[in-house]
Amino acid sequence: MKIGIDKIAFHVPNYYLDMTDLALARGVDPNKFHIGLGQDQMAMLPFTQDIITLGACAAEKILTDEDKNKIDMVIVGTESSNDFSKSAAVIIHHLLNIQPYARSFEIKQACYSGTVALQQARDYIAAHPDRKVLVIAADIAKYGLNSGGEPTQGCGAVAMLVSSQPKILALNNDSVFYSEDVYDFWRPSGHDYPLVDGHLSNEIYIDSFLKVWEENKKVNKKNSQDYAALTFHLPYTKMGRKALRGLYPTISEEEAKRLEQKYDEAITYSRRVGNLYTGSLYLGLISLLENSSLTAGDQVGLFSYGSGSVSEFFSAEVMPGFENHLVKKEHSALLDKRTQLSIPEYEEMFSKKIPTDGKQYLFDDKSHFAIRGIDHDIRIYNN
Ligand code: HMG
Repeated sequence: MKIGIDKIAFHVPNYYLDMTDLALARGVDPNKFHIGLGQDQMAMLPFTQDIITLGACAAEKILTDEDKNKIDMVIVGTESSNDFSKSAAVIIHHLLNIQPYARSFEIKQACYSGTVALQQARDYIAAHPDRKVLVIAADIAKYGLNSGGEPTQGCGAVAMLVSSQPKILALNNDSVFYSEDVYDFWRPSGHDYPLVDGHLSNEIYIDSFLKVWEENKKVNKKNSQDYAALTFHLPYTKMGRKALRGLYPTISEEEAKRLEQKYDEAITYSRRVGNLYTGSLYLGLISLLENSSLTAGDQVGLFSYGSGSVSEFFSAEVMPGFENHLVKKEHSALLDKRTQLSIPEYEEMFSKKIPTDGKQYLFDDKSHFAIRGIDHDIRIYNN
């Protein structure tokens, strides 16, 4: 029985910052951001939206009433939670009107958690082939104004419906993992922004990729020719490219060219969004599916990395007719209709926060699932 991604969509907010504007404001050569990091735009979220808004909007693009009646689990992978106790999944389950006899929960391991959610969904469907699981990977990447990580911020959510006989991708049962207790990026309780050793994080990412790649070769007897494309966690789009280039000493020039072309097709959306932490690998996957020429039976390799650190390499098979089940037009329209922010608007949006004094406030964001108010620290969402 094939199990995998039956439907997939992303959501990003309605605002972005152009990376040239950020570079000029910070006294940096714009080529450092566009070429050195591979980023053109960065998604920005108003304080009236959060991972619940983003996740619900992404899922709503793909779910029918029939799906909602068949979903047994809602899993949210995130490191941008609003609450240490109540999960975002319970609220998203409610906002989407999913049948009540479902299990809803949130999981965390930096940018890796969306992959855990996807693999847990796969395992559940193996035991319950008639049911479905909704997986949401949603995050808000914020490092602080004028910080070293500032050009690698972003935000957004990816929603995936996992089922048997999937219409888009079947997950192969071939994961290899690697864990290493390291402090490259972490956010202790009480900190608004992560602490990060940027250059160490780049090194650990590349090293982890090469380790799971070798493990995959050993365990699954696969090499680069077995994959139509390799996709990567994308904290910024140059990062995955650097890891991919780590393979070049061991593969032919022609093979390197083929994989790099696919890589370019997989980063078109991320160049315009930035890091959405745990959703980034899956934004890259959507970009590949929607902007590349894949055919049924092609194998796609996926490298998932979460700081701290855990990595996984696994693969998926492209299903016949997958292109008829994508929401490419909605994605293009979403990216194109966004409002560009000036630097003062960006800095103001960055700094505004939801009040936490327990009092009642009403806000004026009419967009779907936005926070329309807060009362006793309970966020009230549009629906
Ligand atoms: P930095 O010190 O600002 O930049 O840090 P740099 O000096 O390393 O330069 C970056 C690149 O731009 C270099 O290219 C320069 O040569 C190039 P590279 O050597 O890397 O190929 N450059 C130029 N290119 C063209 N024209 C120019 C020019 N100037 C320089 N004029 C860093 C960059 C990414 C470290 C920083 O922004 C940061 O700390 N970001 C946050 C951490 C991060 O994203 N780490 C990635 C790996 S860890 C990860 O993926 C996990 C994560 O998603 C979190 C999670 O798991 O939850 C972050």
